[in-house]
Amino acid sequence: MDLRVQRGDYLCIIGPNGAGKSTLIRAIGGVIAPRQGEILFEGRSIGGRRPDLVFRDGIVTVPQGRNTFAGMTVWENVLMGAYSIRDARLARQRIDQVAELLPIVLEKRHMHAGLLSGGQQKQVELARAMVVEPKLLLLDEPTLGLEPRVATAVLAKVQRLSEAGTTIVLVEQNARLGLAAARDGCVMELGRVKLTGRGPSLLEDPEVGRLYLGEEAAAVPSPLQPREAGFAGTPDVGEGRVGAEREGTTENDGLQPH
Ligand SMILES: Nc1ncnc2c1ncn2[C@@H]1O[C@H](COP(=O)(O)OP(=O)(O)OP(=O)(O)O)[C@@H](O)[C@H]1O
Ligand SMILES: [Mg+2]
Repeated sequence: MDLRVQRGDYLCIIGPNGAGKSTLIRAIGGVIAPRQGEILFEGRSIGGRRPDLVFRDGIVTVPQGRNTFAGMTVWENVLMGAYSIRDARLARQRIDQVAELLPIVLEKRHMHAGLLSGGQQKQVELARAMVVEPKLLLLDEPTLGLEPRVATAVLAKVQRLSEAGTTIVLVEQNARLGLAAARDGCVMELGRVKLTGRGPSLLEDPEVGRLYLGEEAAAVPSPLQPREAGFAGTPDVGEGRVGAEREGTTENDGLQPH
């Protein structure tokens, strides 16, 4: 496959289960080594490089699934992201900057991450990734298992990170939500790039609509009403905590499709 991401881009990759999306993310992040081909970052070949060295190069991954340290507080989780920053004052400054975009860092700072809802934990993971000011942020299905409203709130955060200048590659199982949010889109199938284009314009592509959005070729997609793409299972609506506060309601930061 041949895929290029420019500095400042926000690319969303969609594709059916088993297309190789996570494999691609893992290969870029250094978790697995490519058998063939080249991965270039800022002109340098990084294929097969150790994950910690890729991280030092500025490529930070938020992997699929839950990745918070459940028994540690939110603050400690975010501090873990800052471990590579030797200067404690600088680390604190970075965390404060990240907290402006992801206020949960301060709001829930004393709470154990394991007690947060799925959407809140994803925001903590995003914050932990952001404290090192990644040059490239790789997000593998950050909305998986979240109810649609929470998924929208998480992607709104991702959009803010993009607007703040972070280069982002997002793998998203909800094709409609992801393509509406990102600037560029890419459809992967069987380990190959099938289609690329502007995110919102891919949404209007009849084939994408038919295969990934579960609609008739002629139907006009509505980015405001995300539907499940239907190739990565149904959302787990049991994700939110009972009673207590719910995400997405305190802030008006829903998606603003272009
Ligand atoms: N280490 C490996 N060795 C052999 N095959 C693998 C390995 N890792 C993944 N695969 C296979 O490669 C294919 C791509 O898997 P991958 O997890 O990248 O898909 P994906 O697009 O992320 O799917 P999903 O939407 O389910 O997350 C799958 O068929 C998987 O079984
Ligand atoms: Mg995957």
